[in-house]
Amino acid sequence: MSYEQHKVKLSNKYPAISDLYTKAQKRIPKVSWEYLASGTGGEDLIDRNRTAFQKIIFLPKFCKGDFDASTETILFGRKYNAPIGVAPVGLTGLMWPKTEHYLAASANRMKISYSLSTLAP
Ligand SMILES: Cc1cc2nc3c(=O)[nH]c(=O)nc-3n(C[C@H](O)[C@H](O)[C@H](O)COP(=O)(O)O)c2cc1C
Repeated sequence: MSYEQHKVKLSNKYPAISDLYTKAQKRIPKVSWEYLASGTGGEDLIDRNRTAFQKIIFLPKFCKGDFDASTETILFGRKYNAPIGVAPVGLTGLMWPKTEHYLAASANRMKISYSLSTLAP
C-alpha cells in the first residue's frame, strides 16, 4: 500500500490525532500510558508545544490552478516522504511487545525517518 493510500485509510478511520490518542489509551496498560503521555519535570513543555502548534494555520487554496504539493524532504542526505518521523521513545516494551519492530517496519514502509532510543527494550 502506498503512502497516499495509507494516509487516506488512516484519516478515514482516525480523522484527528486525538482519535488515535483515545484508542491507544484504551489499549495499553495504565502505568505505561502514564509514562508515555507524561512530560518531564513540571510538564510545562507539553502545553507550550500544543500552544505553538495551535498557532500554525493551514490555509487551503481552492480553484487556483494545478495543485502540485509535496511533503518530501531530504534529511541527512536521504529522501523521505514527510518532514516528520518516529522519535526515539525509551521502554516501548511497556506499551506493546515488539513495538520497535513495528515502528521501524512502518517507518520504512512509509518512507519516513526512524530513530531508535538507547533505552529501547
Ligand atoms: C515517553 C517518552 C519517552 C522518550 N524517550 C526518549 C529516549 O529514550 N531518547 C530520546 O532521545 N528521546 C526520548 N523522548 C523524546 C522524544 O523522542 C521526542 O524528542 C520528544 O518527545 C519530541 O518532542 P519534545 O521534545 O517537544 O517533547 C521521549 C519522549 C517521551 C514522551
